[in-house]
Amino acid sequence: MLKIKSNKILIDTMRIPKHIAIIMDGNGRWAKKNGMNRHQGHKEGVISVHEIIKAACEIGVKYLTIYAFSIENWNRPVEEVNILMNLITTIIKHEADELIKNNIRLQIIGDISRLSQTFQNNVNDCIKKTAKNNGLILLLALSYSSRWEIIEAVRHIVNDVKNNQLNVKDINENVFSSYLATKNIPDPDLLIRTGGECRISNYLLWQIAYTELYFSNVYWPEFGKENFYEAIYNFQRRERRFGKTSDQIQNKH
Ligand code: IPE
Ligand code: IPE
Ligand code: MG
Repeated sequence: MLKIKSNKILIDTMRIPKHIAIIMDGNGRWAKKNGMNRHQGHKEGVISVHEIIKAACEIGVKYLTIYAFSIENWNRPVEEVNILMNLITTIIKHEADELIKNNIRLQIIGDISRLSQTFQNNVNDCIKKTAKNNGLILLLALSYSSRWEIIEAVRHIVNDVKNNQLNVKDINENVFSSYLATKNIPDPDLLIRTGGECRISNYLLWQIAYTELYFSNVYWPEFGKENFYEAIYNFQRRERRFGKTSDQIQNKH
């Protein structure tokens, strides 16, 4: 058992969610609340990203998926899109060594063809450099939307059927999952959304079929280690039934 002193909560280290997905939201509202511009909110949000990755490594989370930029976010004012892209590029460029040092493997999910060539090169470089790491697997959802991902999967499936590489009668949930960007990654156990909105915003729709959802009112730049542990603590108090009855789960029938 790991004791989180500040909150006096006990996290069961034997039941750490294997995969945590995060919708980091509230940068803009945090900035506004503090009389700053949205840019400053995003910059401050980067500090939370560092802290939460560190916390996830410390307690042994295996997969962490963070929503950095949605396909819908391309519709924001061009200045904000540029600011976000520059921030993400800087992080990826400068973080490679840090990721290697901490044994973190970076993967990207999303339509990166929409990003500039330089950006794509930086990202691919970082993915390659960290490919052999076997600690935390960090999935960055970048220019990502779940409906885009599902449509892409359908396209590939249809192609493979046309080319006789896949038989229609063999299509099942596992096969479908293997066509998604999250291929080989187990579904999230816990999804955390910060910033007070209770919606999914086109994130991992297929993968979260049985994920536990946790909504926090805290804006992302204020979301720290303790809030993260609180979410895990809350998760550990739930009973996941997957359609069965409570008795079945408790008697392990
Ligand atoms: C989350 O914060 C960051 C991204 C979506 C990239 P927002 O920018 O959405 O902040 P709010 O929701 O406007 O406060
Ligand atoms: C979701 O946040 C996307 C990311 C966190 C990257 P948004 O702020 O874009 O979501 P909506 O528009 O409020 O649903
Ligand atoms: Mg938002």
